Amino acid sequence: MSVVLFTFSPLHLFTASAQTPVYLDESKPIEQRIDDALSRMTLDEKIAVIHAQSKFSSPGVKRLGFPDLWTDDGPHGVRPDVLWDEWEQAGQTNDSCVAFPALTCLAATWNPAMARLYGESLGEEALYRGKSVMLGPGVNIYRTPLGGRNFEYMGEDPWLASRMVVPYVKGLQSKGVAACVKHYALNNDEEYRHQVNVIISDRALHEIYLPAFKAAVQEAEAWSIMGAYNLYKNQHNCHNEIMLNKILKQDWGFDGVVISDWGGCHDTDEAVKNGLDLEFGTWTDGLTMGKTNAYDSYYLADAYKQAIKEGKYTTKELDEKVRRLLRLFYRTTMNRHKPFGFLCSDSHYEAALKIAQEGIVLLKNEKVKKSKGEKDAETLLPIDVTKTKRILVVGENAIKMMTVGGGSSSLKVQKEILPLDGINVQCSKFNVQCDYARGYVGDTIQSYNGVTVGRSLYEPRSQAELTAEAVAKAKEADVVIFIGGLNKSGHQDSEGHDRLSYDLPYAQNEVIEAILKVNPRLVYVNISGNGAALPWLAKVPAVVQAWFIGSEAGEAIASVLFGDVNPSGKLPFTWYADLNQCGAHALNTYPGTWREDHKIIDEEYKEGVFVGYRWTDRLQAKKSTANSQKPTANSQRPLFAFGHGLSYTTFKLGKMTADKTSMTEGDEITFTIPVTNTGSMAGAETVQLYISDVEASVERPVKELKAFQKVCLQPGETRQVSLTIDKRALSFYDEANGQWKAEPGKFEALAGTSSDKIVSRCSFTLQ
Ligand code: BGC
Repeated sequence: MSVVLFTFSPLHLFTASAQTPVYLDESKPIEQRIDDALSRMTLDEKIAVIHAQSKFSSPGVKRLGFPDLWTDDGPHGVRPDVLWDEWEQAGQTNDSCVAFPALTCLAATWNPAMARLYGESLGEEALYRGKSVMLGPGVNIYRTPLGGRNFEYMGEDPWLASRMVVPYVKGLQSKGVAACVKHYALNNDEEYRHQVNVIISDRALHEIYLPAFKAAVQEAEAWSIMGAYNLYKNQHNCHNEIMLNKILKQDWGFDGVVISDWGGCHDTDEAVKNGLDLEFGTWTDGLTMGKTNAYDSYYLADAYKQAIKEGKYTTKELDEKVRRLLRLFYRTTMNRHKPFGFLCSDSHYEAALKIAQEGIVLLKNEKVKKSKGEKDAETLLPIDVTKTKRILVVGENAIKMMTVGGGSSSLKVQKEILPLDGINVQCSKFNVQCDYARGYVGDTIQSYNGVTVGRSLYEPRSQAELTAEAVAKAKEADVVIFIGGLNKSGHQDSEGHDRLSYDLPYAQNEVIEAILKVNPRLVYVNISGNGAALPWLAKVPAVVQAWFIGSEAGEAIASVLFGDVNPSGKLPFTWYADLNQCGAHALNTYPGTWREDHKIIDEEYKEGVFVGYRWTDRLQAKKSTANSQKPTANSQRPLFAFGHGLSYTTFKLGKMTADKTSMTEGDEITFTIPVTNTGSMAGAETVQLYISDVEASVERPVKELKAFQKVCLQPGETRQVSLTIDKRALSFYDEANGQWKAEPGKFEALAGTSSDKIVSRCSFTLQ
């Protein structure tokens, strides 16, 4: 009988730790561990980690102990698990989540602290669900209000989007979950998204469309980025030499992973050479070709391996991709120091509610008389429960779940409070009678990829009957709250297509007009991620923009309507009166021109840097010069300007001062402006600082947002708000030498509470 003796000695321990391979040795710098891991990997293992193995996962390295990498949508909550190889949800019962407000709402808070809270909360949900890469946030610029995915993005202004994306990414990654910032770049509309070739000036690219991505990469150090579907300079963005190799990796020093959008990779050679690191979502017919694994047919799978074997490529590019993947593994799956995750925790609901409440925008709140004879006119909002006995809620969006639908950001939520339910709760607190009329039928399909909403929206009545009901009930109501707007069905705020028209869909306008005839005390609550034409606006005293705000929607909306929360959101985009006020449409550049072979559609961004308020400002400046300073006609003004948003209190901005009148290139300049809450309710105001380049060698926007700060003030309280800028705020992108340039000369700082309410100015020079 042989006896094996195990002896325990310090020497044994020493030998064991000495044998810990470098790639597993947490005391070693990550780059060394990457080198070591790379040296141990076979060609097959390297090829495996750079492409998907299922709809949302890619393999780690089993033999070496690297776990699989699980990604998931998306920006507003963690998408339910889908089947291994299908978009259909897998039917798990443990993957319901909290839906946070869509990113337009986050941007409308103008509060970077909310973005941090958002990122952290989402990161915790992702951790609990075992996801290492969240496919978001999206920072494509709102170029046209028809854009189907604008609701997923952060508005029209590169500075606002940059300030909001950085804390989101940092918050998310502080939990050990990678952000995958998308869609890089120029995916500004959805129609023909796989075929659009964007033609754009370098200035517009760098000044408008890239800054938020750059901030996410350089300031937030995002660990991954998603290539967009569309083309730039005739090359798909998922393997675009200029976008990925030159700008992202070389100029910005991005050390993370470039992930293709799902199905955005089209060519092995370009994918190998032009900076794509991880291929996802390629549609293959691998299985029908008799392969054992469809994923072997990916562009970066067998075809690449074969080409390496045949000597077409060395492993130089492959090793570079794998290094990036390993770096991502060490930051996420191999990081043993991650915090704990939580799913559907109270803290996440609180975060969702807080962000929603801060993002809701009070667009209009004019005084109305209760009846013709009555003297005192007052605003309809906040609803005065002492004087209100009957409220009528109208509109399908009051009873429609908005977290289901709209494409990849669709969620399976643990709960979603509907607007009507939130309003009912408030009404019952104060003994106010609350009635409901459907008003119109929009989209009754309430399911997406197998996630189905329990509540039926079936409606057998005709439009005439629905209108008649709304009108009859409106006659009896003290206040009518119409909850309408867009929804997440096809050709609205939804992925894959754009809106077909700027008008509100269905019979909404008709019903609103009919109600106004019998009761002008109407509050219009718009649910959407986009502006829309509001032809009856002059007749409607109160308008609220309530976005797609997720799980706590009803509660957040009701808290603002009834005044528990004083609204403080500001529009992150210009709300045009009609499409002609938007540069892309005025110049007829959208959706572009098909080439003869009908394979590619060229979309030239002819408006250049003049996007959003930069366009409307320019238009108005031109008109007022032409009309020798006559005020601009109302018809030329947008309905609501970028940065606009009211409060139930009033604020006064005093005179702005600067700490110097002249600065050098290396200097900073600080502007200080006193803000006072002159009303009787606590509230928050956002001071916005725009810079105007008075003398420039190129045409520059009339003004551009370069700093802002939101302050919360008690009634009567005054705060000095200081905003500091440096030469970057004065610079434009000089196309001649591909550099940012601040030209010496005169500048003006403009402070206000929206882009069309500038109350104080300071001139200064750059030497
Ligand atoms: C979308 C991405 C999304 C991906 C995975 C694509 O269709 O464009 O934003 O992350 O699908 O669902």
